[in-house]
Amino acid sequence: VSALPTNRTYAEQLDAGDPLARFRNRFVRGDEPLIYLDGNSLGRLPAATQARIAELIAGEWGRGLVRSWERWVGLPSEVGDLIGEHLIGAAPGQVLVCDSTTVNLFKLISGALDAQPGRRVLITDDDNFPTDRYVLQGIAAQRDCELRTIHTDQDEGLDEETLAAALGPDVAVVSLSQVAYRSGALADMARITGLVKQSGALVLWDLCHSAGAVPVRLDDCGADMAIGCTYKYLNAGPGAPAFLYVRADLQESLRQPIWGWFGQRDQFEMGQAYDPVPGIERFATGTPQIIGTVAVAEGTKLLAEAGIDRLRDKGIALTSYLIHLGDEWLEPFGFRLASPRADARRGSHVTLFHQDAWRISRALIAAGVIGDYRTPDRLRLGPVPISTRFCDVWDALDRLRQIAADKSYEALPTEISRVT
Ligand SMILES: Cc1ncc(COP(=O)(O)O)c(C=O)c1O
Repeated sequence: VSALPTNRTYAEQLDAGDPLARFRNRFVRGDEPLIYLDGNSLGRLPAATQARIAELIAGEWGRGLVRSWERWVGLPSEVGDLIGEHLIGAAPGQVLVCDSTTVNLFKLISGALDAQPGRRVLITDDDNFPTDRYVLQGIAAQRDCELRTIHTDQDEGLDEETLAAALGPDVAVVSLSQVAYRSGALADMARITGLVKQSGALVLWDLCHSAGAVPVRLDDCGADMAIGCTYKYLNAGPGAPAFLYVRADLQESLRQPIWGWFGQRDQFEMGQAYDPVPGIERFATGTPQIIGTVAVAEGTKLLAEAGIDRLRDKGIALTSYLIHLGDEWLEPFGFRLASPRADARRGSHVTLFHQDAWRISRALIAAGVIGDYRTPDRLRLGPVPISTRFCDVWDALDRLRQIAADKSYEALPTEISRVT
């Protein structure tokens, strides 16, 4: 990598040879010449989604009214199958679009605990995303079970030996993120799933930072359960519904704790007693969010058209290029790579440590480059493959080195804002 040129012409050449370059124009962009490296937090708006939602609102809702439910009612599992087929390696009937990632985690972990009364320990790691850790803490407190939290290096990701040492016959579920939200460290799903299953526990993967960025092979890995959001790489918009995956042969033995009518057999019989449908729809709760679900469908179709393997190849090319420019330009200014250096161990974002990362991230936004800040002292840059150019990476790093050199960020307030 160190042999790569650092001039902008080279970035232009990479863009000229990029088979996904044309997808950049499939997104809505304002007039502002913004360099957006935060699609791993909130993805861009696909033009097709804007058009499809306008049509849905005017036609299916505006004119079709309640009659449209005949079509809408099947969407959560249809769109789930689309995600399963194109992005996360799941055969039909195992993925459902519903609720939020947080709620889906609660549903699946609770169900998995109930299904294994002899096992009372949950495992996660101290670098898992906060909502995952909090939901597990809450379940442990409510159900009088133990949460065993293993230590993970914030920059390098999960340590499989540490995990192996925490497993045992008392463990019910191991809940981990495939790509770490802070560093982008990519866990070996196949190996870790095998390890956990050997111990007799179930494994749940949080795919928020991996779905749409790296090929996920849930079925091939033998994963039991997964959850993920759709507002990052799937570009479905703020608060769009999440998805959940439950392996087909596990579905029957799991019963989730929110007994809503959308999971009920013969729903419109309006029967007295809760009796969940067989299949993935038993993990549904209440009325699905249709506008958001349609946005998930559009976002998934766009990624499917690009192809997850090509997206992964470009993600590696963009992030390794970013790391290369960072090595060349930024190290003298106190930056250090806070993501795995090996391509195979990294998702699609890169994190840089700097002791003044907060103010630098603000100065960068003022200079037209949007990334984000993550504690402690880290600047997170997500060049999402579908819409980022190599020139964007070059320009972003060029502005970053100017800010670092002229120290203009030192004039900014140190107080951290509510949303970072
Ligand atoms: C790994 C991970 N899990 C969960 C979430 C958030 O869950 P929710 O969509 O319920 O807020 C995020 C959000 O960034 C995340 O990165």
